[in-house]
Parts: sequence; structure tokens; C-alpha cells
Amino acid sequence: MSASIVPIEPTATKRFERIGTHSHIKGLGLDASGKALKVADGMVGQTEAREAAGFVVKLVKEGKMAGRGVLIVGPSGTGKTAIAVAIARELGSDVPFMILNGSEVYSTEMKKTEVLMQAMRKAIGLRIKEMRKIYEGVVKQIDFQMGTNPYNPYQQVPKSARLTLKTKSEERSLRVGPEIAEELISKGVEVGDVIWLDAETGRVTKVGRAKDAPAEIVIGEDYDVSSTKRVEIPSGPIYKDKEFVYTLTLHDLDEYYAQRGGGLISMFFGAVEREISSDIRQRVDEEVKKLVEEGKGELLPGVLFIDDVHMLDIEALSFLSRALESELSPIIILATNRGMTKIRGTDIESPHGLPLDLLDRLLIISTRQYQADEVKEILKIRAKEENVKLSEEALEKLTKIGAETSLRYAVQLITPANIAAKSKNKDIVSGEDVDYVKNLFFDITHSVKYVKEYEEKLLK
Ligand SMILES: Nc1ncnc2c1ncn2[C@@H]1O[C@H](COP(=O)(O)OP(=O)(O)OP(=O)(O)O)[C@@H](O)[C@H]1O
Ligand SMILES: [Mg+2]
Repeated sequence: MSASIVPIEPTATKRFERIGTHSHIKGLGLDASGKALKVADGMVGQTEAREAAGFVVKLVKEGKMAGRGVLIVGPSGTGKTAIAVAIARELGSDVPFMILNGSEVYSTEMKKTEVLMQAMRKAIGLRIKEMRKIYEGVVKQIDFQMGTNPYNPYQQVPKSARLTLKTKSEERSLRVGPEIAEELISKGVEVGDVIWLDAETGRVTKVGRAKDAPAEIVIGEDYDVSSTKRVEIPSGPIYKDKEFVYTLTLHDLDEYYAQRGGGLISMFFGAVEREISSDIRQRVDEEVKKLVEEGKGELLPGVLFIDDVHMLDIEALSFLSRALESELSPIIILATNRGMTKIRGTDIESPHGLPLDLLDRLLIISTRQYQADEVKEILKIRAKEENVKLSEEALEKLTKIGAETSLRYAVQLITPANIAAKSKNKDIVSGEDVDYVKNLFFDITHSVKYVKEYEEKLLK
């Protein structure tokens, strides 16, 4: 399968879209001895939980987590998901991270165990090295032609793009179709970036920003500090053979094999949600083993994060226990905000709604409520991440909301407050803008109270 292993659909961006509100988190923010720095890597406070998470990362790297998982316990909005994201970041940038909510296993199309199986396979990567024909160069110019989405007139989608690439000795213009245009957008490719474009599949890799770009390449404003790598402008021809390194998940491979059986249609419509037969998984596993043995591939167990794990019933939970034991398993991180509660599907009360045999295999990390100054720091980081300027008053008001209701709610108000400010042609969000959106959008406690009061009125 060596040359044809690459699936048509690059899925990396889709996989990451749900972690949007955690994009400021770059790691656990620990020093060399594993102690949590007050504010680092986008992380604030929550010292003990972060240090415990650092320990887990260490165990994973030393290969000592096999058969064990992690359970993060704490009230809503205390950073349980944030810590899981940070663990994944610490493990490496191309290590897969998959989020599943406990309620998602109840699907009408798939068995519960199939949903879990797919999630596990989405959390295991295969890093592949291959000689490919690619276009390589620094982007000198890039223009997108947009049009309306045929299925949704309110949405603009890229129809095509024109791209001029340059190396030290050559310059070439390429026209690309909608899929590649979309990938260029989702990867945020800009003038001044050095990219690889796979000639056969259109897969785009952003290598870094060009160092010492010639004057004709006008690079937009740059951050003073940025995590983007600086790279040399490539030399030689634009079209060339190159060793390509990329990561696919086992689920990508499962789908690719399933689609090849299913014909072209499914490829045009992208990922089709459906069950994958165990035959296909077996074949994929065999191929993967072969690639690893031949030194062409490397397995990267990633993180499967299951939020609201108390939503899983006994059947799904025993599947998870068994999965922890299997030879090829991602690192499984569970989270819940429940204490003693019934194991779903039974009448048994158990800590966090989990059976004891599963609890026995879990390292438990707990998160605690934030102090106001921590909430403030987190809001500042989020505002910066979203490019929103908050006035001192707006920040104070959001901090108060975060401390009194939930941090998550306060974080979610940043964008609407900014839109409210923009609509009045202001660059800085004022306290008034925060009040305004706070009145528009309820937090859950308020919305529940509201409906309850209303119900009571109706009953009278
Ligand atoms: N210690 C922290 N440092 C920086 N950002 C944080 C921290 N804790 C939480 N956040 C951010 O605050 C927001 C809410 O936190 P998060 O969603 O992780 O809470 P949670 O415990 O998972 O909540 P829930 O139980 O509702 O799922 C997110 O945007 C998250 O990235
Ligand atoms: Mg969460």
C-alpha cells in the first residue's frame, strides 16, 4: 500500500475545530523540575492539577501508562478540558487529540461501542515517511476566488485559488481547485510562508515563515513573539521529489479502505459517518504493522478525551475498561463533574458513576474553583488570543461574571461583546458592551431559573 496510502481527505483541521476555546493553551506551563509556573503556556493557576498532569505526561513518555487512564474531576468551568488539551500539547504537535462527549455515544447510526472504537482510532496516529512529488516554495502571492455555497446561500466558500510560488531559482503560478483552496485557508497560508503542496493529493504542509524574504514579497505584520518556525527560502526547482512526513490516524486509514470499497461517491462527499467492519480494521492493522516493521511508519498513540464520562452506560464503560488493556490504545483521559452517582444502565451508586474495576485503573486529578485574580488572568489571555481589546471596566465586569457564574460563560461573552463594540465603531470593549451581551445571552443557571419561573406562572 506504500504509494497509495494517502487518503484524499486531509482531516487534521476538522479534528481540531472543537478545541477553539482552548487555542491559547500551548502546554502545562511547568518548569524543568515539573513545578507549575504561575502563568505559562497560556495556563493560569490550578497548580496541583497541572503538576499531576505533568507527571502523567512523564509516565506516558516513559511508556508506563499502559493499562491505565486518567480521570479529571472538578466543577464546571475549572479547566478540566483545558488540562486535557495541555497534556496533548505536551506530547507533541502532531500527536492526535480527540474529544468525545459522553452523550455522543448515543447515536442513531452507530452502536455505542462503534462510536468509542472510532474515537479510539482517531486518537492513534501513524507518522509516515514517503517520497512524493511536491511543489515547494515561498508564497509570493495568493488570491482566492470565493462564491456562495450551493447548499447554504449564507456562506461564502472558496471556489479556487491562484498561487505564486518562488524558490531561489524559479517562480511558478498554480491554479488550484476548491479542496486545496479550502485547505490553504484552513491552514492559514499567507504570503511569506514556505509550503509544500503534494502534487497528487493536494495536501498542504506549512513549513514555516521565510527568513530574509526578497523585497518583492511583502510580508504582513508579524508578532514579536510567535511559535511559527523561521525557515530558509528553498533552492532549486519548485516541482520536485521530496521525503514527505505526515500523520494520519488509524481512523483515516479505516475510512480510506472503506471508501475504496464504496466507490468514488463517498470520496466526493467527504467523511461518511458509518460503521466500519472489523475486516477493514484488521487489514489496516496488518498494513500498519508492516509499515512500522519496514521502518516506513511510526505509531503515535495520542489522547482520547471523554468529557462527561458519567453519561456512558455500563456497556460502554466495560468496553472502555477492556480498551485500556489492549495492545494498541491511546491515552484515555476521562472527565466528570459528578460525585457519587448511579452508573448509567444500573441501580448501583458508585464514585463518579464509574464501575470500581475501571476506577482501579485510573489516576485521579482534581481541579478546583478559581480565585477572582486567576479568572481575570485567564480572561486577559483569551481576549488577547481572540484579538479583542477590553477596557479595564469590561475586564472587571467579565471577571465578576466569571467568578460568580462560570468561567466558561465569561470566556464565551468575549466575542459577542467585541461584536457589540465594533457595531458602534469602537475598537475597545467597554463595560456597557459587556452588560449588553450579558443581558442578551443567559448563562445556564439563569436560563433554568427563567424557565422554571415561567412554568410556575403557567401552572397557576
Ligand atoms: N488554568 C487555566 N488556564 C488557562 N485557561 C483556562 C484554565 N482553566 C480553564 N481555562 C479556560 O477557561 C475556559 C473554561 O474551561 P474548561 O472548558 O476547560 O472547563 P471544564 O472544567 O472542562 O468545564 P465543563 O465541566 O463545563 O466541561 C476554557 O476556555 C479554558 O481553556
Ligand atoms: Mg469540559
